[in-house]
Amino acid sequence: MVKMWLIGLVLMNIMNTHAEYSALQAVLSQKGLEKVAHWSTDWLQNELSSIELPEVRGGVNIGIGTVHYVLHDMSIQRCDLPEPSVAFSEGTGVSLQVSGLSIAISGHWNTKFGVIHDSGWFEIAVYTVNLNTVLQLGSDEERLSISTIMCSADVGSVQVNFHGGASFIFQPFVDIFSGQIANEIRVQICPAFKKGIDVLERHLAAVPAALKVDPYVFMNISLTDSPLVEDSGLGLNVTGEFYSISSPSEPPFSPDYFDLTWQENFMMSLGASEFCVNSAAYAYHTAGALQIRITEDMIPKASPFHLNTSAFGSLIPQLPKQYPDMPMELQLYTSETPLISFSKTVTSVRLLASVKAFAVKPDSGTVPLFRLDIESSFSAKAYIEKVLVKGALEMKNLTVTLGATEIGQFSITPIERALTLGMKAFVLPKVNAQLSEGIQLPFVKGFGLKNAVMAIEDGFVAVAADISGPDDNTQ
Ligand SMILES: *[C@@H]1O[C@H](CO)[C@@H](O)[C@H](O)[C@H]1NC(C)=O
Ligand SMILES: *[C@@H]1O[C@H](CO)[C@@H](O)[C@H](O)[C@H]1NC(C)=O
Ligand SMILES: *[C@@H]1O[C@H](CO)[C@@H](O)[C@H](O)[C@H]1NC(C)=O
Ligand SMILES: *[C@@H]1O[C@H](CO)[C@@H](O)[C@H](O)[C@H]1NC(C)=O
Repeated sequence: MVKMWLIGLVLMNIMNTHAEYSALQAVLSQKGLEKVAHWSTDWLQNELSSIELPEVRGGVNIGIGTVHYVLHDMSIQRCDLPEPSVAFSEGTGVSLQVSGLSIAISGHWNTKFGVIHDSGWFEIAVYTVNLNTVLQLGSDEERLSISTIMCSADVGSVQVNFHGGASFIFQPFVDIFSGQIANEIRVQICPAFKKGIDVLERHLAAVPAALKVDPYVFMNISLTDSPLVEDSGLGLNVTGEFYSISSPSEPPFSPDYFDLTWQENFMMSLGASEFCVNSAAYAYHTAGALQIRITEDMIPKASPFHLNTSAFGSLIPQLPKQYPDMPMELQLYTSETPLISFSKTVTSVRLLASVKAFAVKPDSGTVPLFRLDIESSFSAKAYIEKVLVKGALEMKNLTVTLGATEIGQFSITPIERALTLGMKAFVLPKVNAQLSEGIQLPFVKGFGLKNAVMAIEDGFVAVAADISGPDDNTQ
């Protein structure tokens, strides 16, 4: 019985995870990987430069006995790392090769030959170090993880120069030292590289699953699937669901399947589904961020219409009779989550809002007058120009119903007509002027997108772009 119940529970869990589609999909192409490798060269060079070299101890038989030597206090003076070559390795991660790395080391030497002690300093130049590694990309607790699964290094040649003491005695044995030193350095390289990757992994582990977007909402950025590594790129499926910070709750709709096309000619592709956008709308709506109080001082002086009971008299004749010459205030808020739907032919937005009207008494107290429920739909166009998302909204439909009234019934038709006119003549032109100026694509500090193209698909919006970094002055 318990067993059955357990099996049921396990099955239910499996079904749950399978039903959970990602709302955000991102792909890094080979071209993008090369860019990332370019950026990480400096970082890797720093990691390698900070290797701590342990003492090297050994003995060299010089025929009449053994010279024991210690090389100590070694430090890396220079490290020249050529740009690594990188490629995705299907099903695993990334293969990374460095060829022709060179390292300059300096340090001190001590020798002991019987009772004779000697010491001095030295320089070592290590040439043509080759590094061959494979990094595994996986997921750990629903976030990207990285680890080194293969690393080999070989050292081409080593040049050693001893100084001080009786170093001329040792210089002839340099060939023997060289081999040992080269080997000593060779065995240090992979552990140093792994340490660097471990640092990166710790950074990834520290990335919170909830990304705070602004004071109102956060986004769940945990992975829904393990990263998918193909020869052509790396795909990441991200939950991409927004929540209100103050009252996080699940929206009354769920994510749908969508599959982003990988664009190999761009460094990255991004897809955001309707659910991603609508969960954001839901989060802002439940956070109470989608509301505005409209007062008389927000109305331009030159406007022919003002917020007062006499002005409303032309629409609601009984209002100035009941409340003569009083300023008014409107509270506009979304009554339901605004919903957007993407399709190749038309993107539409459905908006349900209410507006509560109040008369403002001389003591600043308010008297509720009525509530209008507004249902409107818009069609939207969106496109990317340079790095800006631009768009235009067109109103399709606006209907008004009287939701509540404290001043008796009145005809809604004149109000609906006035609102429609107001929207078309004043509000939308303003909104569209704003939209045509564009909204900056969100991106990490110092990094941006260029050559971006956007396409609205059925159920999602896709953006393909190149990434530009702080060191890119081009364009
Ligand atoms: C984020 O979503 C994952 C499932 O995709 C879930 O396991 C996790 O609890 C969510 N985290 C938050 C903070 O909502
Ligand atoms: C992301 O999800 C879609 C739809 O479920 C799937 O087709 C695709 O293979 C997934 N990609 C990754 C990287 O897991
Ligand atoms: C009320 O609004 C009308 C215009 O709509 C304006 O002419 C009038 O001065 C306003 N009254 C007050 C008291 O502000
Ligand atoms: C306005 O919306 C209603 C309900 O959504 C619909 O029945 C009506 O046909 C729409 N009118 C126009 C002009 O699109």
